[in-house]
Amino acid sequence: MNGAKTPEPLTRAAELDHLLDAVKALIIPFVQAADDSAPLKGTEHGTRSVLVSSQKPDELVRRLALELPAGEGRGEDGLLQTIRDILENSVNTWDQGFMDKLYASTNPVGVVSELLLAVLNTNSHVYQVSPALTVVEKHTAKALANLFGFTGPRAGGVTCQGGSSSNLTSIVIARNTLASDSKIHGNPARPLVLFTSEHGHYSVEKAAMTIGLGSRAVRTVPVDAAGRMDPVALRAAVVRALAENTTPFYVNATAGTTVLGSYDPFPAIAAVCAEFRLWLHIDASWGGPAIFSPTHRAKLAGAHLADSLTVNPHKMMNVPVTCSFLLGRDTAVFHRANTLPAGYLFHADDAPTDDVCWDLADLTLQCGRRGDALKLALAWIYYGAAGFARQVDGAFEVAAYFAERIVQSSDFVLVSENPPPCLQVCFYYAPRGRLGTAAENTARTREMVRRLVARGFMVDYAPGPQGSFFRVVVNVQTLRGTVDRLVAAIEAIGGEMGEGNRAL
Ligand SMILES: Cc1ncc(COP(=O)(O)O)c(C=O)c1O
Repeated sequence: MNGAKTPEPLTRAAELDHLLDAVKALIIPFVQAADDSAPLKGTEHGTRSVLVSSQKPDELVRRLALELPAGEGRGEDGLLQTIRDILENSVNTWDQGFMDKLYASTNPVGVVSELLLAVLNTNSHVYQVSPALTVVEKHTAKALANLFGFTGPRAGGVTCQGGSSSNLTSIVIARNTLASDSKIHGNPARPLVLFTSEHGHYSVEKAAMTIGLGSRAVRTVPVDAAGRMDPVALRAAVVRALAENTTPFYVNATAGTTVLGSYDPFPAIAAVCAEFRLWLHIDASWGGPAIFSPTHRAKLAGAHLADSLTVNPHKMMNVPVTCSFLLGRDTAVFHRANTLPAGYLFHADDAPTDDVCWDLADLTLQCGRRGDALKLALAWIYYGAAGFARQVDGAFEVAAYFAERIVQSSDFVLVSENPPPCLQVCFYYAPRGRLGTAAENTARTREMVRRLVARGFMVDYAPGPQGSFFRVVVNVQTLRGTVDRLVAAIEAIGGEMGEGNRAL
């Protein structure tokens, strides 16, 4: 069918069956190619590999030649050709060489869960139209909240569109709870200020900008050598803010910082928050899933002292993007902070009377919402908490193995702690242990990262006091062999660039 006119009787099921088969024939080889390429990592591919076909935006615009028909559609042929083009020109995150960002491919159960969400096309704003997915979301959020030590009768949470959105929502909830007039009258005359570490994610500044506090309302707190917030410096910053006639109200602590993967000292930070009655939020977008691991969950000790916590199963747990939860010990606080009367959507008289809200959009800043919780729920049912624990432990072991490889070689300087606190391994390439100037290190790291693409690896870099260093992220599917091949590829590129012979 070409979408021209809906035939009678309806034939949508047959059409879907047919298209799914056709698309399956394209996507399975895409994933298969990534599986098959694992032993070939590190060999020279040129600009085209299973992982990526590197092109400048202008070239890709020409190559894709996207055309949205002004008249009749191109039907199945046009659809399948476009899907082929997209697959061919996308980064194949299933490839072992994708070690660039704080997420990687999903997995088979993740694909199935997205398919189910697409078929249901549920809008999880009100219970009436999303009964099953609302129950799934509340149940999954509660189970997750319980793991972090939020165990009261109204402990739980909601999903938001990502970690930045969960962090933003937590700031709005904190402001509307602690400065309750602001919900109606806007931000108070005495400026509100909030705190995060120097290594915190920029979403906190973005949120402050969004809600009219301005990014300068965010006071950055120094970190220790391992990148953890210094609680003594936090206390001093709060005292200073009070002396400046501002109102401190919110502290963001991080579990798994974006560059080094550090976990802040939550109990000491919570003590400062308790002393000054500040809202404590933990951004565990990245490092939160360590909670599933008996070996690594101690990193999250004190998480139960927080008022709210963000965790993104779409990062470390390979749940499809996006899946982010905002959790807390009392979801009624979320509701009170965000609810607004919209009688055409939220029919309060239908709501249960026990202060438990089933219309989840009313706890959030959204109206329409995807049922993202389903994706974690199905993965949890499939793997179990024990399976998640094995995956997380395996990934931490691979990160530790990687760091050890770096330390053992005289051509690298490890920036991360050994073992690393999370799944990033940060290092400089430094032939025979000699680092250059910051500018030289930056230029060398960038060039090597660029050349790695031709060998089937995408990795990233971040700025540091001695210039940019490599930041490589392993995930729960990364093989030790991939780490060996990456180290060998970097050394080969170093040789190619004549780095070993240069007098720095
Ligand atoms: C610590 C931390 N918080 C928040 C985020 C933002 O999450 P999202 O990309 O889902 O908005 C990131 C992203 O990498 C992160 O590292």
